[in-house]
Amino acid sequence: MTEKDFIPKAYSQSIENGTVTWESPSNIALVKYWGKKKDQIPENPSISFTLNICKTITNLTFTQKERDNDFSFEIFLDEEKKDDFKPKIETFFKRVEVYLPFLKDFHFQIETSNTFPHSSGIASSASGMSALALCLMSLERSLSVVEVTDEYFNQKASFLARLGSGSASRSIEGDLIVWGKTDVIEGSSNLLATKYPYQVHEKFKDYQDTILLVDKGEKQVSSTVGHNLMHNHPYAQNRFQQAHDNLNALKLILESGDLDKFIALIESEALTLHAMMMTSMPYFILMKPNTLEIINKIWDFRKDTGLHVGFTLDAGANVHVLYPKKEAKVILEFIKDELVAYCQNEQYICDQIGFGAKLINN
Ligand code: PMV
Repeated sequence: MTEKDFIPKAYSQSIENGTVTWESPSNIALVKYWGKKKDQIPENPSISFTLNICKTITNLTFTQKERDNDFSFEIFLDEEKKDDFKPKIETFFKRVEVYLPFLKDFHFQIETSNTFPHSSGIASSASGMSALALCLMSLERSLSVVEVTDEYFNQKASFLARLGSGSASRSIEGDLIVWGKTDVIEGSSNLLATKYPYQVHEKFKDYQDTILLVDKGEKQVSSTVGHNLMHNHPYAQNRFQQAHDNLNALKLILESGDLDKFIALIESEALTLHAMMMTSMPYFILMKPNTLEIINKIWDFRKDTGLHVGFTLDAGANVHVLYPKKEAKVILEFIKDELVAYCQNEQYICDQIGFGAKLINN
């Protein structure tokens, strides 16, 4: 697939108005995307678990207008008008206009809500941008005379979501998702994310992710700033190569079900992401003291019990505690008894691996 495959032929259906609703999940990367080239092309491949409970629900209402030079839209979060979200959406519309040439023919009302608390430190860009991309694809499908297959629909939704936020490309379809070209995964692409195509051991099928909300404040560093810090970063090239190597190693782990190796790989990935931030110029520490307390507790507990609990981190202080469902009872007790005290307002979210976005109504 190339960019050209996503430029539509002329539309011949006309629609005056309508509404569509999609819900789209967040995702958590196991091998992280950190660093990008022009046009949202990742410097290295990444792979993520799709989440099930942390989602964005977006309702898009569209009304035909006279075509002019402007995008026309309003955005609401939890029924409250959010003009401060407009520049991000405007940038997104500009980037995708060539692929969705109808954008200036409509006025859009975008109403969105998240199933997780807004200021939880959980990035809503992956779920938010993918939900919006899916709504726009539904509109394109209605305008199109040629049949839009489900396969093309999902591919283009991922392609568009990527242009909103890189990790959003991994929130369309499937439970384990790869984004970024790598020779070891057939069909992988820099332009869009694809379902992980190989055998995955039973142990990973119902993996649990308990998100410990250590710091619910605004992100200290936006991911855009973070990605840019990888330009001229002294360790960048080694890091990009390491991500390729880790994806290759993860392929064997996913097949064999070796949980010890899985934990070592995902924890190293998380700490490497943070190490990149600590060694960039300017430098940042995104963990909080309680992040480290939690990590040390997890390590002690794992040593004492032999249970398969591990962690990963996003570009922030929250901790994602990952473990297989089979061991969930004891691990969840440990989380409640020993880790939740380190969360802000003792808040945490019990999530698990999910299967992708859902059309709510059309
Ligand atoms: O999609 P962005 O630009 O917000 O970048 C997300 C980067 C990480 O969440 C830190 C890692 C990843 O692969 O999701």
